[in-house]
Amino acid sequence: MERLKGKKHLDDMVPSEIVKALDEYVIGQDEAKRTIAVAIRNRVRRKRLPEEVREEITPKNILMIGSTGVGKTEIARRIAKLADAPFIKVEATKYTEVGYVGRDVESMVRDLMGASLQMVREEMAASKKEEVDRRVEERLLDLLLPSIEKDGGNTDVSTDGAREQFRQMLRKGIFDSREVEMPQSMRQNLGFELMGSSSNMEELQQALGSLGSMFAQQGRQKIRKITVKRAREIIEEEEMDKVVDPDKAVDEAKERAEEMGIIFIDEIDKVASRGNSSNSDVSREGVQRDILPIVEGTKVSTKWGVIDTTNILFIAAGAFSFAKPSDLIPELQGRFPLRVELHDLSAEEFYRILTEPQNAITKQYTALLSTEGVSVTFTDEALHEIAAIAHDVNQTNDNIGARRLYTVMEKLLEELSFSANELNGQSVEITRDYVRQRLSDIVEDQDLTRYIL
Ligand SMILES: Nc1ncnc2c1ncn2[C@@H]1O[C@H](COP(=O)(O)OP(=O)(O)OP(=O)(O)O)[C@@H](O)[C@H]1O
Ligand SMILES: [Mg+2]
Repeated sequence: MERLKGKKHLDDMVPSEIVKALDEYVIGQDEAKRTIAVAIRNRVRRKRLPEEVREEITPKNILMIGSTGVGKTEIARRIAKLADAPFIKVEATKYTEVGYVGRDVESMVRDLMGASLQMVREEMAASKKEEVDRRVEERLLDLLLPSIEKDGGNTDVSTDGAREQFRQMLRKGIFDSREVEMPQSMRQNLGFELMGSSSNMEELQQALGSLGSMFAQQGRQKIRKITVKRAREIIEEEEMDKVVDPDKAVDEAKERAEEMGIIFIDEIDKVASRGNSSNSDVSREGVQRDILPIVEGTKVSTKWGVIDTTNILFIAAGAFSFAKPSDLIPELQGRFPLRVELHDLSAEEFYRILTEPQNAITKQYTALLSTEGVSVTFTDEALHEIAAIAHDVNQTNDNIGARRLYTVMEKLLEELSFSANELNGQSVEITRDYVRQRLSDIVEDQDLTRYIL
C-alpha cells in the first residue's frame, strides 16, 4: 500500500501539496486542481471540528466543465490514487430511473461502501502481512506437494528437503504458471465476492443460483485446476479474511465512506435535458431527480447497513458542449455550487503532456520499444512538432483534446513499432525531419487527416 511506502497521506496534505501531487500527472488546469484541492482539504478541516459545528458544514460539491480530452477524468483518477479516501467513478448515463430496468442510482453508494470496505480490509491485513504471507506460502506448498504430504511413510528428511527446495523456487516465481488442483472454496462456489464492491439484484440472483447448485452437489467438493499464480490470489483473500475482524472492518469502512467518500459522476451533461420533452428526456430528468436526494443527503440501505450520504463529496463532470449546466434541473444545479472550467489545451501544453507526466506518452513508447532492444529518443524539436501537428489537427477537425496526441504518436511510430524486432540493438532518434516526413502528407490532406489522425 502506498501509505506504508512512506508516501504522504492525503489527509495530511495541504492544498498546495495536493496540487503539486496532481502536477506530476496533469498539465495545466491549475484552477481545477486548486478548487479540488481546497474541497478535499475542507473535509479534513471539517473533521477536526467539534461535532455540533461539524454537522452544520456539508461538503461543497464540484462541477467540472470542459471539452473532451482536457483532463477532467484524469484529475479525478489521480485524486483517487492519492486519496486514502474511498473513491469511485461512475457514469451518469449508466443509470436508469427507479422503476425501470437497469442500474438504480443508489447503487453508486453501495459501490462506494464496497470500495471503502476493500480499502479498510487491505489496511487491516497489512499489519498482519507477514503472518498472512507465511500462511499463504505454506498452503501453496501443500498444493504443490500433495503426494509428499499424504505419504507419511517417507523419510522426513527428504520431505523437508523437498519442501525447502520448493519454497525457494516458489519465491522465485518459478511455479507461477504451473497448474495445481485446488478445492473450490465457499467464496468461489457462491460465485461472487462476499465482501465485494458491488451488489445488485442480478448478482444476488446469480449467487442464489449457485447456492442451489452447491447444495445439489453437497458431499463432493469441487476441485479446480488453476495456476499457482491464481491460487495465490485466492488463498491470499481467504487468509486475509481470517485476520481481519469483519465487524470492525465494516464499522470503519462505513465511517470512512460516510465522512470521507468521494463519488465522481462523469458525463453528467449527457443526462441534462434541453427543454423539449421527448421520451428520452423524461427518463434523463428522472435520473437527475433520483440523483438529487443522494447528493442532498439521504440514507441508502446496503448489505452492510444504512449509509448516510450527507457528507459524501460529489464531483460531477461533463463536456457540456450541447447541454449547458443550466439545463440540469435547478435543484441539482444548486447542489454543485463550485464550478470549475477546464480550458482547451495549448500547443505548449501538448508539448509538456508528451514529456512531463510520470506516465508520459513518449516514455510509454520508449519503454515498449526497449523490450525489443530498440532505444528510441525524441529531439526537443520533434516533440514541439508533434505537439503543433496535434494542435493543428484539433483546430481543423474535431477537437478531441490531448487524445489527439495518441493518434498522432501512433501514426508517427507505426512503422517503427511494426519493424522494431529487426532493429534490435539499435538506437533511433526521432527528429523534426522524421516527424515531418511521416506526417506532413497526411496533415496536408484534409480527407486523409480525418481518417487517419
Ligand atoms: N491536462 C492534461 N495533462 C496531462 N494529460 C492529459 C491532460 N488532459 C488530457 N490528458 C490525457 O488525455 C487523455 C484523455 O483525458 P481525460 O480522460 O481526462 O479527458 P476528459 O476531459 O475526461 O474527456 P471526456 O469529456 O471525453 O471524458 C488522458 O488519458 C490523459 O492521458
Ligand atoms: Mg472523461
